[in-house]
Amino acid sequence: MNRIKSIRPALIVIVVSIFLITIPSPSLSQRSGDIEKRIDALLAQMTLEEKLGQLQQLDGESNGNFRPEHLQLARQGLLGSTLNVRGAQKTNQLQRIAVTESRLKIPLIFGFDVIHGYRTIFPIPLGEAASWDPAAVERSTSIAAAEARAAGVHWTFAPMVDIARDPRWGRIAEGAGEDPYLGSQMARARVRGFQGNDYSASDRIVACAKHWVAYGAAEGGRDYNTTEVSERTLREVYFPPFRATVNAGVGTFMSAFNDLDGVPASANRFTLTEVLRGEWKFDGFVVSDYTSVEELIKHGVAANGADAAREALNAGVDMEMVSRLYNKNARELMRQHQLTQQTIDEAVRRILRVKFRLGLFARPYTDEGLESKVIFNSANVAAAREIAGRSIVLLKNDRHTLPLDKNVRSIALIGPLADSQADMLGSWSGDGKPEDAITLLQGIKARVPQATVNYAQGCDIGCATADGFENALRAAKESDVAIIAVGESAAMSGEAASRSSLDLPGRQLDLVKAVEATGKPTVVVLMNGRPLTINWIAENSPAILETWFGGTQAGNAIADVLFGDVNPGGKLPVTFPRTIGQIPIYYNHKNTGRPPDAGNKYSSKYLDAPWTPLFPFGYGLSYTQFEITNLQLSSQHIPLAGKVTVRVDVRNTGKRAGDEVVQLYIRDTAASVTRPVKELKGFQRVTLQPGETKHLEFVLGAEQLGFWNRQMRFMVEPGEFKVMVGPNSEDLIETKFEVQNR
Ligand code: BGC
Repeated sequence: MNRIKSIRPALIVIVVSIFLITIPSPSLSQRSGDIEKRIDALLAQMTLEEKLGQLQQLDGESNGNFRPEHLQLARQGLLGSTLNVRGAQKTNQLQRIAVTESRLKIPLIFGFDVIHGYRTIFPIPLGEAASWDPAAVERSTSIAAAEARAAGVHWTFAPMVDIARDPRWGRIAEGAGEDPYLGSQMARARVRGFQGNDYSASDRIVACAKHWVAYGAAEGGRDYNTTEVSERTLREVYFPPFRATVNAGVGTFMSAFNDLDGVPASANRFTLTEVLRGEWKFDGFVVSDYTSVEELIKHGVAANGADAAREALNAGVDMEMVSRLYNKNARELMRQHQLTQQTIDEAVRRILRVKFRLGLFARPYTDEGLESKVIFNSANVAAAREIAGRSIVLLKNDRHTLPLDKNVRSIALIGPLADSQADMLGSWSGDGKPEDAITLLQGIKARVPQATVNYAQGCDIGCATADGFENALRAAKESDVAIIAVGESAAMSGEAASRSSLDLPGRQLDLVKAVEATGKPTVVVLMNGRPLTINWIAENSPAILETWFGGTQAGNAIADVLFGDVNPGGKLPVTFPRTIGQIPIYYNHKNTGRPPDAGNKYSSKYLDAPWTPLFPFGYGLSYTQFEITNLQLSSQHIPLAGKVTVRVDVRNTGKRAGDEVVQLYIRDTAASVTRPVKELKGFQRVTLQPGETKHLEFVLGAEQLGFWNRQMRFMVEPGEFKVMVGPNSEDLIETKFEVQNR
């Protein structure tokens, strides 16, 4: 990887060491000496084949069964892990073979994609990020962990912490959006939720930060595509959420599919070894993504399987998911001195370390009585409803269209997503069952049982024809209000689900227009895994709710918001563009030498579209109103290593209790490298009763004020900083202070 070379002498700066500190949990560090000794003892007994067996992960069947071959390999001690095998009884059966019949009795680690729930499904991660509520996300994640562990799963391939600035990329649904700070808070919350303080506990699992790294920067938003990212942008935008997972003690990482500046992420020694192990002191293991070792051949950095194995192992990928090139080629590579015993031993050591930390040597089996108590229990389902409610974003609410009157007599419920159980679960639904999911139709009927609900689908999600519109219009005309649920199917986002248009599919917009034309008060309920270009709706529909894919309890949670039992408080974790031609569009962009200026042709803008987004990052309304005032700093001048406290008041000026997310942004106005026009550095979601004021405090120190300078060192530089606070990234009040060179 090319390092950016300095072209100017360093300013007087301080190195900020906080970025170099890793904090293992105390219980882990106490046990680590013992664990290393036990690993030494095992390594001393293992044959090369047994070592390579630990590096192998194989896929089970999609229904959770293992394959006959797994039994045989486990018996021979030639398998380290499976993915997708789940269920206490099935995992115990396979585990029993490994720990009673294999020579060294090393347990298997069972991995599974527990992304936003195991059986009780929570909103997609992009939706949960819209809650701006790390505590809620930690809670949902801990529930997912408890359910998964009860089902014999030890390890999730989550959190997905890829920053995404391109909504065409379907996997934007799986992450926390465009911002490294919000992304880091969510990443940390998820690791804590999955792992707790000690992931050997019977209700925790080990997490996996993925996809290392810059997978979200896929050119054109096309999944698996090439990425070209400078080291500065890696460090400032793509690395921070991963760094947050390491600081939170994450046990594993997954190497990504993408080519990163000419070196595929699964063969990239700079990211896998120099940064992750060298700089960050990560001591867990790295698993490849699905066949990403073998794909090094198609990338063109390996002529054959042996090359691919050598590249990946030497770069720092410890476990190979699904392809079997380590096993086939390692012996010969060692004979040719292209791979050392030490590299293999180190990879095995890291995997065994996580198995020990999981407590698998002491307690290899899962209590088969737990599943029925833990999985999909009523407390978990209630939490899913609450968290789905916290994830909903009110994008528009003219003339107080919402909340709807609970005494409403008749409601037209229209649209392809109004009664689709499977779509509520989103794209990674773990072991979730469509039949568990509450649709909006069910949710509304349960909430207002006295009302007549005139349901008409109008069209399916593809909406190729207007044949069903007539029924939908009749339903609208016969009702007091109309609710239209439009958007994408769950399969239109997630992996391998890139889109070249962000419009509503097919003729869905025509359906909305036709319903609006009836003149009935209309609420548009969006369900989708990415920002959509909804200009007409934003301009013409009186009320819009962004509900993402809300999970098992989606319909109840949306009904809670529609009828005012829950006052929406979510905010967008990603910018909504007006047109696909604006992409990439994100709030923390650079200023350029010619910032957009309507009065100046020779400024940075488009001839045929505004430069501004449809809805900015951080945006979201409430049924009440808030006022943010009285922005004050503890000092106008701080030294290089100093801190400044930012104080601000937020007041509920309306008539209902509600939540506001107060957001703090900074700008370093002149530095040795260009800085974003705004950078989120703090937020707090607070609940306020009518008339109530809360005084909030944020602290800014070196961690928030620093950046990667021309020598690629993390520094705070002296000079002016703007501080901006507000309810979204655009409506901000501001002040400033100076960092002084002393
Ligand atoms: C995805 C990963 C996932 C893995 C295992 C891959 O295709 O990219 O995110 O964890 O499959 O299911």
